[in-house]
Amino acid sequence: MSVKTEVLKLLEGNRDKDLSGQEIADRLGVTRAAVWKAVKALKEQGYRVDAANNRGYRLCDDNDMISAEGICLTLKEEYRQREICVCQCVDSTNQEVKRRALEGAGEGLVVLSEEQTAGKGRKGRSFFSPEGTGIYMSVLFRPTEEQSKDVVLVTTAASVAVCRAIRKVLGEEPEIKWVNDVYLRGKKICGILTEAVSDFESGRIDTVVVGIGINYRIPEGGYPEELNDMIGAVCTQGQVIPRNTLVAAVLNELYALYEGLSQRTYMEDYRKWSNVIGKEVRYSTVVDNSDQAAWEYGTALDIDEDGGLIVRLQNGEEKVLRTGEITLRTC
Ligand code: BTN
Repeated sequence: MSVKTEVLKLLEGNRDKDLSGQEIADRLGVTRAAVWKAVKALKEQGYRVDAANNRGYRLCDDNDMISAEGICLTLKEEYRQREICVCQCVDSTNQEVKRRALEGAGEGLVVLSEEQTAGKGRKGRSFFSPEGTGIYMSVLFRPTEEQSKDVVLVTTAASVAVCRAIRKVLGEEPEIKWVNDVYLRGKKICGILTEAVSDFESGRIDTVVVGIGINYRIPEGGYPEELNDMIGAVCTQGQVIPRNTLVAAVLNELYALYEGLSQRTYMEDYRKWSNVIGKEVRYSTVVDNSDQAAWEYGTALDIDEDGGLIVRLQNGEEKVLRTGEITLRTC
């Protein structure tokens, strides 16, 4: 581990106190000059380190850089061996994970980026991904033959993971709009895009990428006008919970849920937090992104064990929706 990484680890682990250059040097077994150099490099990278009045060093309260060191502070011990890669800017973290998967990256790899230039949403849409205010993360899973049967559940599991993490970290109660949008205080704060790659020879899904996009803070200058009414942010103004804490909480939940996916125990939470059950919904019977949508109307009755939405149509017939998107008619 480089001195810079070691220093960052110490600063992240001691956010509430000043650490003198000498103390850091002694703890790491390096010179004070090496510590000074490491802090300088961190500042150049964008970390906000307070070093005023010779009190020592500490991360500023408003320092909110995503880092593997910051995430590992609250990531469960058993998951700390998994690879965490933090980028400054990528096209899409889902794409980056797919590229790394081709190079042989292992189960549990997570790629995060401060910014995405081509963030992908569902149905070919783009995902607004400005620098420094969101959490853009993608996780790689390599299902075994046995696990690949249940892999469709990973999207619904991911939305439960995000909700559980928000409940733990912020004490708030998010809701899930089928199939995988997370809402808080009435606005969408998270979207999930799961992509699977199958092996050409066996036809079996061998790579699954779960992409999670969380609007964490409202960017300076706000959201683009066309999104403003629809999307919100996890943090209210002035709230200073580091993004690293929420990332770790999401990963703790997601990794654990993935291990027990076939048992579907999380479905109970999914149903409980659904903001759709019992509501009048409208959905498109056209699966592609064409404008020629044909709309059907019905009442959302329940969510089945595979995450399908059971809808009673206006003619009384019941139908299970497996993919697609719904609009709540009450909104
Ligand atoms: C949606 O709401 O339509 C899904 C949005 C998914 C966005 C996330 S951000 C991290 C990952 N990388 C992407 O390009 N997309 C997903």
